[in-house]
Amino acid sequence: MQTIYTDVLVIGAGLAGERAAIEAAQAGFSAICLSLVPSRRSHSSAAMGGMQAALGNCAKGDGDCPDVHFSDTVKGSDWGCDQEVARMFADNAPIEMRRLAHWGVPWGRVVPGKGSYFKGGKLYDKEEKEENRGLINSRDFGGTAKWRTCYVSDGTGHSVLYTVDNVCAKLGVEVHDKTEAISLIHDGATCFGAVARCLRTGELRVYLAKASVIATGGFGRIYPGTTNAVICDGGGHITALNTGIVPMGNMEAVQFHPTGIVPTEILVTEGCRGDGGTLLDVNEERFMHVYEPEKQELASRDVVARWMTHHIRQGKGVKSPYGDHLWLDIRHLGEKHITGKLREVYEICTSFLGVDPIHQLIPVRPTHHYSMGGVRTNKDGAAYGLGGLFSVGEAACWDMHGFNRLGGNSLAETVVAGGIVGKKIAEFLQGAEVTFNSAVIDAEVKKQQERIQNVIRCKAGTENVYKVRAAMQDALFKGANIFRTKEGLTECIATLQETLARARKVGLKSNGLGVNPELSAALKIEGQVKMALMLSCGALNRTESRGSHNREDFPARNDRDWLSRTLAYWKSETDDLPTLKYEAATQVFHIPPGDRGYGKSEIIKADAKAESKGE
Ligand code: FUM
Repeated sequence: MQTIYTDVLVIGAGLAGERAAIEAAQAGFSAICLSLVPSRRSHSSAAMGGMQAALGNCAKGDGDCPDVHFSDTVKGSDWGCDQEVARMFADNAPIEMRRLAHWGVPWGRVVPGKGSYFKGGKLYDKEEKEENRGLINSRDFGGTAKWRTCYVSDGTGHSVLYTVDNVCAKLGVEVHDKTEAISLIHDGATCFGAVARCLRTGELRVYLAKASVIATGGFGRIYPGTTNAVICDGGGHITALNTGIVPMGNMEAVQFHPTGIVPTEILVTEGCRGDGGTLLDVNEERFMHVYEPEKQELASRDVVARWMTHHIRQGKGVKSPYGDHLWLDIRHLGEKHITGKLREVYEICTSFLGVDPIHQLIPVRPTHHYSMGGVRTNKDGAAYGLGGLFSVGEAACWDMHGFNRLGGNSLAETVVAGGIVGKKIAEFLQGAEVTFNSAVIDAEVKKQQERIQNVIRCKAGTENVYKVRAAMQDALFKGANIFRTKEGLTECIATLQETLARARKVGLKSNGLGVNPELSAALKIEGQVKMALMLSCGALNRTESRGSHNREDFPARNDRDWLSRTLAYWKSETDDLPTLKYEAATQVFHIPPGDRGYGKSEIIKADAKAESKGE
């Protein structure tokens, strides 16, 4: 069996992983990234609208500073975040945007002169100053006091990933693509690397590293509909939770993006609403101003997604063979704007829907988008419980997002956290001595070889992995969606427990090794159902509503009892339920819990208001 040594093993080659690898490589350490796909196809490339950083360069960003960005982020999180982490992020984001410019990201730039912009369907004037000519520009996004989202048209992730990947290549960071880490090698105290499977040949390899980093992005594919790519399947999380030692943080904190297109659930960016697009109902009338008079379509995502779902439930959705939806209207932005600053939206609508957004409405509804929860780490990105293990980006619960992430804060997090955690890893590596325990390594390899053979030979049973996966997805969709209740979550957990028993009996229909997606899916399914159980048990226990976690039976935020982060452990492989513990959401309150400034009108009050207006 091939054994490969490196100082840093990064599992995942998206923006967060590559940015961390750059820091290690610049400090003189060797770094290898493992990736399911060529690095430039990582899901970071799908991020559209931009990255938040308080540069304050454009007219509508005037007066912005990291303090305001920090405050928006804490309010966005519904006071669920670690405020010291959010502070570090806001302070470092402007530096990182300028670094990216230096590396070659072709940011949209400020052009001086008189101009105009749409907000809530109305046209307003603005004037950009001559002194800001050529500086990095920003657009508006939800839940922010200023225009702060730096962009490259609506293909920001794509541009930044290509740039960062070039820097990796220049520094000699190796990317081993078509390679999947299937387990971590550890002795209960220290992580030594991972056992990985070559997706071309099916062969196993051992990667031994002084530091290992989980940077595999989100796990949206445990839901049936998501903006996430098929590779966002929780593979990295599963390796961590299978240690029985490393906890997952806040798995119940799941973000639903207001504008997935119907029926494919592909994202159309929040930049559409930031640039002045509006949401319309079946009568082609705006409705967000009734629920959110101040921020309207640009309240935070949890709030907009909730009101959209509520409005559909009130019978105001558009019927379609794929379920009810609402409309996104960007027609008034005009052809030049749509084919320029929203060119990917234009492509997506024309290619996948046959809808021309210059002249037609776009069918949208809230769909799963982001996982605020993940591998729990401290401020340095070090995972709880295992020395030498780190996590960064969406895979991690670092935790700057709490219970709702602001749009544009995750793409920024990838590079800001990647930089910060990468530096901490380099510090950790200075003088680090690790003795790789060969008995531990051999035992882990043997365990994985047996696991694979058992699935191939259907030793435990012949359950079909795709049917088991569909059962898990369906349970989450019904019970752990935008609105949650005790009854719904209890039923969801019962179904997931049955599904876990089925997942343990999966056998292959196809033949063995080599390029075999069924085997990849089969090796992951038990871990995915465990993640789904962590999510739904965390949601059932949390008897309050906070950010994206919305309990219809507990509609208020409860800071007295729930200003905390859930830690979910899967202590023993054969357990049927996770063990839940809690820790304080933040040690330091720069901003004490208070009013978010949006999202406070209760559904009942909003309905009464709509009725009195005859709407
Ligand atoms: O809507 C968007 O462009 C998505 C951005 C994000 O998730 O941060």
